[in-house]
Amino acid sequence: MRFFEPADSQPCYYCKRIEAVEQEKGYPIREGIFTYENYVYRCAWHSRFTCSKCGKQHHFSWLYWCPKNRELICGDCNKPTMRPAVFWDRTYAYEFHCENCGEHHFDLLYSEFQGAHPWQLGNRDLISNVDSQEPWLPIWSPNKLRNGKEIGLTEALKIPNRVMLLREDLKRAIGVIQYAVPKDEIDFSETQKSWEQNSQEYIDFVQIDMAGDFNRKFIIDPALWSLLGDIRGLSVLDAGCGNGYLTRALATKGANAVGVDFSKVFIEYCTKIEAEMNLGCKFYEASITEMNDFESKLFDLVVSNVVMVDVLDYRTAFKEIARVLKDDGKFIWSNVHPVFGRTAGAIDIRLPRDSQRNEARYLKMIDRYYDSGGELISNWMSKPTWQFIRTLEEYSKALKDAGFVISEILEPRPTPEVIQQNPRDFAFDADRWTHFIIFECLKR
Ligand SMILES: C[S@@+](CC[C@H](N)C(=O)[O-])C[C@H]1O[C@@H](n2cnc3c(N)ncnc32)[C@H](O)[C@@H]1O
Ligand SMILES: [Zn+2]
Ligand SMILES: [Zn+2]
Ligand SMILES: [Zn+2]
Repeated sequence: MRFFEPADSQPCYYCKRIEAVEQEKGYPIREGIFTYENYVYRCAWHSRFTCSKCGKQHHFSWLYWCPKNRELICGDCNKPTMRPAVFWDRTYAYEFHCENCGEHHFDLLYSEFQGAHPWQLGNRDLISNVDSQEPWLPIWSPNKLRNGKEIGLTEALKIPNRVMLLREDLKRAIGVIQYAVPKDEIDFSETQKSWEQNSQEYIDFVQIDMAGDFNRKFIIDPALWSLLGDIRGLSVLDAGCGNGYLTRALATKGANAVGVDFSKVFIEYCTKIEAEMNLGCKFYEASITEMNDFESKLFDLVVSNVVMVDVLDYRTAFKEIARVLKDDGKFIWSNVHPVFGRTAGAIDIRLPRDSQRNEARYLKMIDRYYDSGGELISNWMSKPTWQFIRTLEEYSKALKDAGFVISEILEPRPTPEVIQQNPRDFAFDADRWTHFIIFECLKR
């Protein structure tokens, strides 16, 4: 099955990209031919060339031209290195050490930027895979031979997040800051303010009933409870309790439940509900990074439900949780999955875009996984909140440093029956990849 039938010719993908960033005027946008293996329209300059050595066809930027013996050689036959250089929208070129002439040559893309492409130099004898009379026309060349701006290797490797560039409207759709903001540039009070501003809306719309929202009810909580087990008589802390639905559930099941949250609005709400329901819950307004109300080794169990993703200083939070836990205490916490749950640098592709069928969403793309930091997200609330993306390794290291060992990891999913009853309520295709992760940790 093919998604679409290509037109005979269209403007070349590479020509368009170059024209958009070339400083000197007049870069020609040539016509391109479509091939299924490349999936974009490409002109002769930007198509494939045959290597004189191995006889195979290669992408134009995987070959160099040696003017001495007038040969095109590919990167499979002569392995290149990266040369950091800013040119057009690129940050490096491929550099080849030539065995024939002893000189260094660059790939055909960078050569074209320099004005040193063999066709720009009047060598029309390259063998192209494009069947046309004069496939190299029109020729464009800069006024003089030039080089890209020199940069460091680290900078050269900072290739922009391609996934985010792919769909500009993603920013509008989910209000994402394009790249993760380094965490030292974010103020703790800003994260607190962002939650206080949203608490009422969260109470009113997100957690519509006392059992928590859809994801909690059908995905997270069943898995969470399978780890929590029998909690009768235990003193349990719900760290980052939000509207307190879980604190109340803990109390209903016989625990001495305590909830902590740094949003005054949430704690006032929880206290009000407790006054009405009398379940025996206690609520405190505090950051889970500094819980001065609690002496050390107070709790048998700490639960924290989808909170760490919102906590700026998660490393201190883990340490503080370890402090208030008894020596043989357990720490059970769920979170947005560091890989599959991320929004910054990730995108779900749906073809066609307006389809409401699960199978139309066929691909998840993630880029720049190592870019940890903060992002302002407003995918469900009107005002954005700060969220933080981190790698699994960072979480695992922080747990170890706080004195925890991970005893179990769950990647929860809804049952087939739940999906059948609510086919479009699982926004994340929860039956195909996990959106959440749950850790059971033991204090060492
Ligand atoms: C996604 S909500 C989850 C709330 C609740 N656990 C639930 O499952 O509904 C995240 C919560 O973490 C709280 N939070 C974020 N950073 C915090 C911090 N440093 N100290 C205490 N609470 C924090 C927010 O106020 C918010 O209530
Ligand atoms: Zn082109
Ligand atoms: Zn070759
Ligand atoms: Zn050479």
